[in-house]
Amino acid sequence: MTAVEADGLTLRYGRAIALDDVSLRLRTGVTGLLGPNGAGKTTLLRIIATALSADGGTLRVFGHDPSTPPGRLAVRRLLGYLPQDPGFHPSFTAFEFVDYVAILKELTHRTARHTEVARVLSAVGLDDRRRSRIRTLSGGMRQRLALAAALVGDPDLVILDEPTVGLDPEQRLRFRELIADLGERKTVLLSTHQTEDVMSLCQEVVVLDRGRVRFEGTPAELAGLASGRVWTSAARQAGALASWRTGTGLHRHVGDPPPGAALVEPSIEDGYLTLVGTGTGTGTGTGTGTGTEASAVAGGAR
Ligand SMILES: Nc1ncnc2c1ncn2[C@@H]1O[C@H](COP(=O)(O)OP(=O)(O)OP(=O)(O)O)[C@@H](O)[C@H]1O
Ligand SMILES: [Mg+2]
Repeated sequence: MTAVEADGLTLRYGRAIALDDVSLRLRTGVTGLLGPNGAGKTTLLRIIATALSADGGTLRVFGHDPSTPPGRLAVRRLLGYLPQDPGFHPSFTAFEFVDYVAILKELTHRTARHTEVARVLSAVGLDDRRRSRIRTLSGGMRQRLALAAALVGDPDLVILDEPTVGLDPEQRLRFRELIADLGERKTVLLSTHQTEDVMSLCQEVVVLDRGRVRFEGTPAELAGLASGRVWTSAARQAGALASWRTGTGLHRHVGDPPPGAALVEPSIEDGYLTLVGTGTGTGTGTGTGTGTEASAVAGGAR
């Protein structure tokens, strides 16, 4: 079954348009949401998580309509949500906080609920901090605590807004294991600025830019957008969207390559940059075959 069906979602803050005609389908598996700061990712996630209502368009989550009170309640029963800025009561312990969320999620049987709270705290590696007050936890630990709260009750739809912010490398790997596992049974939508998270975890990726969906496909397809547009050279070159000197001493460029350039395999980051980059190359390029997406960028250039 399709977990999320969004059609033509629109949201304005005053005169500013944060979401402009966004349509999306989500099924079982992990979908990554990429996009620049201010693209509308949090706005979209909040709408799907019923924390905000769209001004226009339709949304169905497991067939329920969150614009009606009964629909909203039905969605919330199936949902786990990690907000971008989770608010914590600093004098709660880790256990008390997740237990409180579990009570809100209607896990009324005390013993079963406590078993479930212990399970999710263990899943995020906070076993030994169960009795710690939140104010004594590090930033990364708080982030994992918020993740535990999103996972409690084993929800069918899990929405995570920048879940890997502040995680150390080992915890990032643990996060990937946990979420990859979850994605075999559940629908997961996560926003991130880490293209490696998307490459290593997501079956699908959606790129939002200035409130619009610019791309929907697999991570490999996103990388493919930069095919023929990434090259290396011994010296600095002008005219690329991005260029830098790599650790090997070679300069790596993304943009419109000069004739005879030494092309290299693009990464998902290159694809992303080709799509949303507003550097010097955008809109003035010679059109080296990046198709409609590049035209969309050129057409919408600021
Ligand atoms: N409460 C608000 N009032 C007014 N404008 C807002 C509000 N929240 C967001 N916006 C605006 O809506 C747009 C989308 O913001 P949003 O938070 O959804 O972006 P984002 O993609 O999550 O960005 P980031 O990567 O920085 O988290 C931005 O232009 C932002 O300034
Ligand atoms: Mg955000």
